[in-house]
Amino acid sequence: MLHTNLGINDNGNLTFAGFDTVKLAKEYQTPLYVLDENRIREKCRTYINAMKKHFGEKSQPLYASKALSFKYIYRIMKEEGMSVDVVSGSEIYTAKEAGFPMENTYFHGNNKTDFEIAFAMDCGVGHFVADCREELDAISQIAGEKGITQKILMRLTPGIDTHTYEAVQTGQVDSKFGTAIETGQALELTKYALTLPNIELEGFHCHIGSQVFDGQTFCDSADIMLDYINTVRKETGFLATVLNLGGGYGVRYVESDPYLDIEESIAAVATHIKAKAEEFNVPMPTILMEPGRSIVADAGLTLYTVGSVKTITGYKSYVSIDGGMTDNPRYALYGSQYTSCIANRANEVADFECTIAGRCCESGDLIAENVKLAKPERGDILAVMVTGAYNYAMASNYNRVPRPAIVALNKEGSKVVLKRETYADVAMNDM
Ligand code: LLP
Repeated sequence: MLHTNLGINDNGNLTFAGFDTVKLAKEYQTPLYVLDENRIREKCRTYINAMKKHFGEKSQPLYASKALSFKYIYRIMKEEGMSVDVVSGSEIYTAKEAGFPMENTYFHGNNKTDFEIAFAMDCGVGHFVADCREELDAISQIAGEKGITQKILMRLTPGIDTHTYEAVQTGQVDSKFGTAIETGQALELTKYALTLPNIELEGFHCHIGSQVFDGQTFCDSADIMLDYINTVRKETGFLATVLNLGGGYGVRYVESDPYLDIEESIAAVATHIKAKAEEFNVPMPTILMEPGRSIVADAGLTLYTVGSVKTITGYKSYVSIDGGMTDNPRYALYGSQYTSCIANRANEVADFECTIAGRCCESGDLIAENVKLAKPERGDILAVMVTGAYNYAMASNYNRVPRPAIVALNKEGSKVVLKRETYADVAMNDM
């Protein structure tokens, strides 16, 4: 099986975190997001322990909550001692409502509005990751009006080309995010930030991209950032105490995806940072990382009910399900690959080649093309694996389709942690 939380029981049903997925589908209806809570907690601990071991006690993983943001996840993060990365006023609101300690939040985004900046400060957001000059000015000014000093990091682009899909590459010079080191603009902006009142520059941030498997690129970006810290110290006398290396560790969606060992990669990055710190004779900065996908992706599974199975003679077969791009737009957007199976016949040979289609009025509403399933029939339960990251987070109400519920699985049993939207919920704000 693709991940260790997947299995098949004696009834031939797919299990997830030890639960019979067919029973879950019957009990909670479909489409349904299912979340293996223990897996999320294990991942948090892997990051915390590996980072402390290799980067030192003060290092800290921030869960990039854009991957899956709702109250329950912030409660888990609080219990696990994680910090979090938030990217909008609404994520800040959700974290706060969930009781997450706001001093441990980092506010990201390439275009924070004045309203959001003020709101974040009122909520007590601990750190801002400033993207550009306009933002530095706005943060400084609004902090001044509130009579506070806001801690900030500056987002920089180290000029790294990751081998991932274009939509999620962010570390290259030509990017809407951050300020480029290569062009000299980062240094100019850092000097400017140091002159501004009501902000306290703690250090620098970079995020090279998402779904990255090549551990070397993380080492390369760490090298560039340490070089930059050294340059800034020489040029301005300012010594950064914090270096945030962003997120991006790749996750296996299909058998052919490689496997990236989180601890091994952290150890390798630490070797680079320590060597550079020694070379430049600067103290090791506090290292932050921002994993999103690698914390929640394989802790998620989506269950659907099969509707029509349509074979177009001489062409192909379409298997339509009761969800689709509204709960998982990632195939439509990026052509992302998923592993799926008929959950109520998980031990049968998968030899029926088909395209899995959603129910929206849109031909591109597909979940997978040319995949093999046990021959599906109306009423079967289809499971799509590794849907914990950027699925619910990117879900929409296109065609006024209500978003599914999320059910968490833990040692106490299963429970709804996010309610299924009703038709009335979808129409709630209509005047
Ligand atoms: N930090 C920053 C500043 C980010 O922009 C991101 C992701 C992360 C951390 C977390 O990266 P991760 O560990 O999850 O790879 N919607 C796309 C992914 C967009 C990623 C956006 N930024 C997808 O579904 O593949």
